[in-house]
Amino acid sequence: MGNFLAGKVVAVTGAGRGIGRAVAIAAAAEGARVVVNDYGVSVDGGEPSSEVAESVVKEIEAAGGQAVAVADDISTMAGGQRIVDTALARYGRIDGVVCVAGILRERMLFNMSEEEWDPVVATHLKGTFTVFRAASAVMRKQDGGGTLIGFTSGNHQGSVAQANYSAAKGGIISLVRSAALGLHKYGVTANAVAPVARTRMSANVPMELKEIGEPEDVAALVVYLLSDRARKERITGQVYTVAGPKIAVWAQPRELRAGYAEGPWTPERIADFLPGTVGTDPMPMLAQLEEMAAAAAAKARPNA
Ligand SMILES: NC(=O)c1ccc[n+]([C@@H]2O[C@H](COP(=O)([O-])OP(=O)(O)OC[C@H]3O[C@@H](n4cnc5c(N)ncnc54)[C@H](O)[C@@H]3O)[C@@H](O)[C@H]2O)c1
Repeated sequence: MGNFLAGKVVAVTGAGRGIGRAVAIAAAAEGARVVVNDYGVSVDGGEPSSEVAESVVKEIEAAGGQAVAVADDISTMAGGQRIVDTALARYGRIDGVVCVAGILRERMLFNMSEEEWDPVVATHLKGTFTVFRAASAVMRKQDGGGTLIGFTSGNHQGSVAQANYSAAKGGIISLVRSAALGLHKYGVTANAVAPVARTRMSANVPMELKEIGEPEDVAALVVYLLSDRARKERITGQVYTVAGPKIAVWAQPRELRAGYAEGPWTPERIADFLPGTVGTDPMPMLAQLEEMAAAAAAKARPNA
């Protein structure tokens, strides 16, 4: 056992399986007392069970750590509040929250139903809000502030068949940046992690992932972000990818190129001016898609 997080109290959502479980176990192994939240659902969000959260608590206790289970649904305000209330009642404070819980309901946009959109956005985006909301209300008043961590995905750039997931993951980045800005003066930091790791969720990805690692790689980055070492470096408002041996930081969104009119804009003036002056910023994922389509077409023509 290390002491990277000695004395800290950390809550992790979706901590019953996959990346969340690895984060909870690593945080406990580094000395944190951990609230292990998991609603215990299938990849698409059905069939809840309280057993998954409890079994991770048992694992942590067996290794000599301290943990408590909360099997609530974090897409409800009461669920987010219960996680923070449990930390306070059991351990007296809350230093870090890590919102890992997530589900998938894949469908092309033109076929997507409300039942596929709403629960995915509610679990990821609202489920990060409910916990950030309850935790930040305590952290802004407590000595030492606190750390908020959201989970996003490379798919925040866009997704062919997961518009619901991609929209929620983009929303999480904006929520994290808003938390970083709004809580800066209270000593609370907020960052997002975009992982690539072998879990039951990534097993559903239709294409082969070139860069992928284990949940433990992601857990190491999260433990660092929760630690005083990261707080000393003033790391806040950042998005990090971790994929096996690679850690990358994402750019902040910013205006790329601007042009100014001398008189009022008209559609005609814009049509003459925009393409050559302001232009576009090509989508890397669209280029990838076109490359894949070209490779598939070349394979379909055996003599090409
Ligand atoms: N695995 C990857 O490569 C990858 C890539 C990009 C993003 N992510 C993100 O990382 C996070 C973890 O993914 P994973 O691969 O470990 O998935 P996973 O399916 O293994 O684990 C997700 C856990 O969240 C729990 N959960 C779902 N809905 C919940 C709710 N309403 N309340 C509480 N718990 C709930 C599930 O029961 C499950 O145990 C997710 O946010 C996912 O979108 C993962």
